[in-house]
Amino acid sequence: MKNTAKNILLGLVLAALCVPMQAAAASPEASISPKRMADTLYTVILAHRTTYTELIVNRLSNVEEVIEVSEHWQDEQALLLPSQMFRATAELVQKENDLGFSYSLLSLWPVNSKNNAKTDIEKKGLQYIVDKKGENFYGEETLGDKKYFTAVYPDVAVSKACISCHNKHKDSPKKDFKLNNVMGGIVIRIPVDTK
Ligand code: HEC
Repeated sequence: MKNTAKNILLGLVLAALCVPMQAAAASPEASISPKRMADTLYTVILAHRTTYTELIVNRLSNVEEVIEVSEHWQDEQALLLPSQMFRATAELVQKENDLGFSYSLLSLWPVNSKNNAKTDIEKKGLQYIVDKKGENFYGEETLGDKKYFTAVYPDVAVSKACISCHNKHKDSPKKDFKLNNVMGGIVIRIPVDTK
């Protein structure tokens, strides 16, 4: 084999060896973008929301009819509404973690005033997902002395039950939701200036 060919071969072998070494060396420093982090959390949160709605609430209350689902679940020994389940877990996550991230199910027309948009970015994001149907909203905000990446994902009226319950609820400020309307959004907030 000629020297040049030998050198090329050696170079290729070294390059092949170096790739996994570099990957291994880089792993402790590996990072994830805030957007990817938010999208990842959203995937998990949505899977839990859907599973609770389909496999617990729909199955036990509508199909097998063994237990009711009710907003007043404590008094009526019933299942929590999916949105109440969502808020209960979100509040627990916020209380129990010191990573600084949080999530919530908010709306511009909330039944429960606790689910009102509070920050400018939340309001902007909720309006954006209503105006640009099918899109998510991504933004940044500073709260106190901390910077956050804030993502808002649409929560859509996928069934008649969503709109009929909200439209006739005494505390709902909006009474004309239609099927497939964006009723609110899942807001995920991730701190960006901490390690
Ligand atoms: C049986 C009544 C009922 C049904 C069905 C229902 N909701 Fe709700 N929804 C509520 C109540 C009550 C709340 C307030 C829960 C709380 O205390 O946080 C709520 C909260 C929400 C919120 C947070 C903002 C707010 O209004 O407080 C969104 C967004 C929402 N629901 C969307 C939906 C969607 C989408 C569906 C269908 C997949 C749905 N809801 C089905 C009663 C209902």
